[in-house]
Amino acid sequence: MRIAFTTHRMSLSQSLEVDRRGLLLEIRSQFSLDWNGHHGGHHWGRVRQHGLTIARRRGADLLVVELFAFLHDSQRADEFGDPGHGERGAEYARSLQGRYFNLSGDQLYQLTRAIQHHSGGQKSTNATIQSCWDADRLDLGRVGIRPHPQYLSPEGGRYIESAYRWSRGSPRRDLNWPT
Ligand SMILES: [Fe+2]
Repeated sequence: MRIAFTTHRMSLSQSLEVDRRGLLLEIRSQFSLDWNGHHGGHHWGRVRQHGLTIARRRGADLLVVELFAFLHDSQRADEFGDPGHGERGAEYARSLQGRYFNLSGDQLYQLTRAIQHHSGGQKSTNATIQSCWDADRLDLGRVGIRPHPQYLSPEGGRYIESAYRWSRGSPRRDLNWPT
């Protein structure tokens, strides 16, 4: 499945608030790990898809969830450790505000909090933040880990089996990344 970033369903106001093409080119240009690795673009595409599915069910913020998918691992410098990558990712997201998107104060707070703490195993009562974390955790199958409902919302838990099959699937889903 190829994902066309410019054609998915969003409200008109949301679509006018974000320069997706410019943003994706910017993120990819500075990404230092293997694009096809565990934390690269294929993972981000699955996180995006999981996140949008869950966010729609929960009435969460679709734009924040999508931006989380693109940004949460964008500052990783190591595939295995790198505990500071969440904080750096949140800082990077703040630096892009006003250049590629114009989030409200609440949206920027949710995005940066979700990015900063995404690998800590916490849960959140905020539907948008938890949709982001659900989406990332649902792709643990790519490293052989079956997602556990303890770390997911009830809505996210509905997708454990299908997400696991997708993460383990071959060939990997490609991204229609702008060039
Ligand atoms: Fe991730």
